[in-house]
Amino acid sequence: VGISPTSRHRIRPAVSSDSDVVFALLSNVGHGISPKRAEFDSNFVVLLSDSLSTLLLVAEDDNGVVRGYAFTTISRLLHRSGLSAHLQELVVDSHVAGQGLGSALVDATERACRDRKVTQLTVASRRSAGFYERLGYRTTADFLKRTFE
Ligand SMILES: CC(C)(COP(=O)(O)OP(=O)(O)OC[C@H]1O[C@@H](n2cnc3c(N)ncnc32)[C@H](O)[C@@H]1OP(=O)(O)O)[C@@H](O)C(=O)NCCC(=O)NCCS
Repeated sequence: VGISPTSRHRIRPAVSSDSDVVFALLSNVGHGISPKRAEFDSNFVVLLSDSLSTLLLVAEDDNGVVRGYAFTTISRLLHRSGLSAHLQELVVDSHVAGQGLGSALVDATERACRDRKVTQLTVASRRSAGFYERLGYRTTADFLKRTFE
């Protein structure tokens, strides 16, 4: 986690006062995602307090305004040694798309994972597969989902 040498973006761990802007970023992401504020707030508090199994980073622009975030979960698996991480959510403000914030958030996530002895980082992505392939990620499995109401 630190300052990217190629830009003035600053990546840092999220703090509780980031909740408004992270909520706004998530609410504007589209894809049918419409978070409820009360649930979001309680999840945000729990995740921030659970630093062993979660990693929540935000990207600030050169004015110190948060323009993106990356949320990763970290867990132990039975079939692998070390820890495994999954990038659950990566969102960049569409007004600043293409300026490297998304890549900087992935890079900072990777560095934080390595610091924590994580040995693999996965991400499920349909629409943004090309974005991750650019960064060296390769398709490894199909991702199936069943939701419980
Ligand atoms: C995907 C996302 C995080 C990229 O953020 P960003 O800050 O624009 O990314 P960067 O500026 O670091 O990189 C942009 C590069 O990735 C490419 N890219 C961005 N989205 C892409 C996509 N969906 N498919 C293929 N390439 C993509 C751009 O063309 C650009 O390439 P270039 O540098 O060669 O011009 C952002 O568009 C976003 O928040 N999307 C909505 C949420 C989402 O889909 N998240 C990912 C799944 S969790």
